[in-house]
Amino acid sequence: MMEKALKLMFFGAPGAGKGTQAEIAAKKYAIPTISTGAILREAVAAKTELGKLAAGYMESGALVPDDVIVGIVRDRLAEDDCKGGFILDGFPRTLAQAEAFDETGIGLSMVIDIEVEDERIITRMSGRRVCPKCGETYHTVYNPSADNVHCTKCGAELTIRKDDDPEVVKRRLTTYHNDTEPLREYYEKKGILRVVHGQEKLEDTTALTTAVIEEYLHGNQ
Ligand code: AP5
Repeated sequence: MMEKALKLMFFGAPGAGKGTQAEIAAKKYAIPTISTGAILREAVAAKTELGKLAAGYMESGALVPDDVIVGIVRDRLAEDDCKGGFILDGFPRTLAQAEAFDETGIGLSMVIDIEVEDERIITRMSGRRVCPKCGETYHTVYNPSADNVHCTKCGAELTIRKDDDPEVVKRRLTTYHNDTEPLREYYEKKGILRVVHGQEKLEDTTALTTAVIEEYLHGNQ
């Protein structure tokens, strides 16, 4: 039984490893991950109204409007499985989103900023493969599926995300530096920012993020 509810956010540039670490932590601490990127990609694939609205923004490397995103996250956090804690992956991403989240009064235990230099991100993104069926993420070199072609979990053929095109990745990085990175200072001022340097190996980054989480859960924070 966990003593404190873990209300965690993974922060960082596109491709820093937020989604990967969020999934690992979600399994370890048995709490749900709310990934705005994954919710939007599902909506795009299902061609819902939300998906039709979001597709253009996502494919060009821009952010989806704040009011749309805030509504999605607020609704998701109101569900019962979030009562004992949750992990946010990819939200908040603008000052307006952070302020809207603060207004809900839900609060965050900590924000883990995974830092990776832009040059490494561009190389990393070219190797990302995703499962269109179950959403599992792989990397051709750092985290390959069993045969590097199909999803180890469900067997579907792996695909490349449309927004992993190198030109789109560059635009996503620019969007990150302009609109999202300033939030680091916002959470630093609140005293809940923890910085972790993204490592070459997934498990090395996991060791660092786990240490920070364990310190929160079992320390005096
Ligand atoms: P989103 O899906 O959130 O994309 P992102 O933030 O750009 O992050 P990524 O999913 O690309 O990367 P990640 O940090 O999760 O890295 P991953 O673990 O996969 O958003 C997509 C779009 O949706 C946005 O551009 C925007 O349009 C829209 N959107 C989403 N949220 C929004 C919001 N709040 N407001 C407005 N718009 C929003 O790892 C990347 C690769 O590296 C993988 O292949 C992985 O296997 C590998 N890897 C991971 N860790 C390591 C490691 N330590 N060493 C080596 N390889 C590693």
